Amino acid sequence: MTIVATDRSVRSLLKQGIGQLREANVPSFTLAAELLLFHVASRDRAWLYAHPEEILSAENAAQYFALIQRRANGEPTQHLTGKQEFWGLEFEVTPDVLIPRPETEHLIEVALDRLALREIRAGRPPRLTGNGITLVDVGTGSGCIAIALAKELPDATIYAADVSVAALDVARRNAARLGFADRIRFLESNLFEAFNPVRFDLIVSNPPYVGRGTAETLAREVREHEPEVALYGGEEGYEFYAQLVAQSHEFLKPGGLLVLELGHNSLPAVQPLLDPSHWTNVGVTNDLACIPRVLAAECH
Ligand SMILES: C[S@@+](CC[C@H](N)C(=O)[O-])C[C@H]1O[C@@H](n2cnc3c(N)ncnc32)[C@H](O)[C@@H]1O
Repeated sequence: MTIVATDRSVRSLLKQGIGQLREANVPSFTLAAELLLFHVASRDRAWLYAHPEEILSAENAAQYFALIQRRANGEPTQHLTGKQEFWGLEFEVTPDVLIPRPETEHLIEVALDRLALREIRAGRPPRLTGNGITLVDVGTGSGCIAIALAKELPDATIYAADVSVAALDVARRNAARLGFADRIRFLESNLFEAFNPVRFDLIVSNPPYVGRGTAETLAREVREHEPEVALYGGEEGYEFYAQLVAQSHEFLKPGGLLVLELGHNSLPAVQPLLDPSHWTNVGVTNDLACIPRVLAAECH
């Protein structure tokens, strides 16, 4: 009896879970085992380290090992816990949406910096509330970009579009749970189809940018579990950008801003799409891994 109880201590469960995930070559296996343990125990990291001897119920331990097994078989941790943090907010994620990635936070930073710069250039203080600004997040997925911007720009008018009805359901639930339901209008739309005659001060997008031809190079977690419509931008990957950039020019007000996330090797194909007769103040921002990650430009 005592042995069973000892085996269900937090310390022991974690050690066994880490071992199983390491054995299965799961990336970040320690973090994954911790997150799954927090999830079944409804606790946080502080609890885990403060109470390593605490005994979980047999039911919780069984749930934990079932999740460890699913993670070892390739399901992303976020699909098992149903959540991912982004911009300090907790987002629901399901297999219908891309799991928000930390590098996408650079896109939010660049968008906010560019808006502040516009204020300075107009001789106004750079304090941003978003007053007078209409923006759209194209391909909103979980809604993470639109919701982060709603948090930072309390007075902006915000639209969020996606071609996936299932993704929009998740995005609407996230907006409602985080208190932004009345701030964002979610629309089913293939690119800008549903938007005529709205014109925007800011268009942001993290578009599908993986090449179908390179699908085999994706991690199994991504290739087998994240939605194809969120991943693939065409055979090469950058085809989607061509339509997005061309249509963005039509849908931006003069002087409007376009801020795009880039795939790890997209820049050489995407930057030339910003024809100098239509676009100015083009800027590229690297992510923490020094990969060109965000492309921003102003339309004229
Ligand atoms: C890379 S995911 C980005 C999701 C989310 N914005 C994020 O950053 O985590 C791309 C999103 O674009 C959507 N999408 C794909 N094709 C689209 C289209 N033609 N029009 C609008 N959205 C599209 C997908 O459904 C997916 O939600």
